[in-house]
Amino acid sequence: MCPLFDLTVKITKRTLRITMTDQTLSKHRHISFTAHYTGYIWYQMGISHPLLATSKGKTLAMIAHPIESWGEKHVGGSMRTTLKERHTMLDDRLKQLIGQYPDLQILEIAAGLSPRGWWFREHYPQIDYRELDLPDMAKTKQTALKQINPDSPVVLSVDLFTEDFKNAFAVFDPQRPLVVISEGLINYFDKALLSQLIQSIADYGKDFQSLYYLTDLYPEPVKNKLAKVIWGSSKLLKVLSRSAFGFHFIDPAEVQSFIQNAGFTQVQVVQPSIYFHQENADLDPEQHHGDLVWMIEAKR
Ligand SMILES: C[S@@+](CC[C@H](N)C(=O)[O-])C[C@H]1O[C@@H](n2cnc3c(N)ncnc32)[C@H](O)[C@@H]1O
Repeated sequence: MCPLFDLTVKITKRTLRITMTDQTLSKHRHISFTAHYTGYIWYQMGISHPLLATSKGKTLAMIAHPIESWGEKHVGGSMRTTLKERHTMLDDRLKQLIGQYPDLQILEIAAGLSPRGWWFREHYPQIDYRELDLPDMAKTKQTALKQINPDSPVVLSVDLFTEDFKNAFAVFDPQRPLVVISEGLINYFDKALLSQLIQSIADYGKDFQSLYYLTDLYPEPVKNKLAKVIWGSSKLLKVLSRSAFGFHFIDPAEVQSFIQNAGFTQVQVVQPSIYFHQENADLDPEQHHGDLVWMIEAKR
């Protein structure tokens, strides 16, 4: 049999197994309304496709708009400001990694309605970019992507806290480098579960030629005028999303040792106040400079 055909059959079988089995789901699923909200914000920012913007997202964005605008005017920031920062930092780093590894493979977990997979597949057709989410969201995303481009790959329907997650890694070629990326995900889990997730990524990806994990993370909102409002909103989000949403880290060193203990060797914390402001290049990267969101890069 032609090796390429054989590989395609194997991958298709695996994909089908992941997407079509009666899936067991964990109890660690927070409801996905936030993905509709962020999906609509990406569209409003002009970086997404209209088919990835839902009416649910539009309603949520309309409800949040006055509070967001108030925050931007009076305290110099809002939730959507942090969305822009985290999305830009993650995209920039991904582009650099593609420059470094032209045969890069990317697995975006909890992709929601993010345009990233669509955009990178359009602009870098040589890379293998797959997306993953819980069954309902995977189906919604899949329907939209197929309308945009019928050749879009299947969105993997996987709960990250089940065996299916391990199978998702089998879709890729271990001879090539792999980046696992998540955005707007990890604050929804408590620390024990977060450690389990990062250990799974380090473990399932250990045989790849290189393994990176890129993510955003909301640290404890210290030194920020919005801190009290943010603590209050986080409690509301915890209830509404039926999750363990919280802030787990107060300084970069804590994040570094936590991720190293979960199986990665190099961990870098990137803070917007340094990343986007050359004049702050001298700031100590080990200190929390008051940003609401950070980008984390881990390498195994
Ligand atoms: C806040 S949304 C972020 C979506 C997208 N990354 C973005 O930034 O626009 C979180 C996503 O995590 C997904 N999710 C939650 N629990 C999950 C689990 N246990 N396994 C897989 N995905 C999960 C939700 O379905 C949702 O799409």
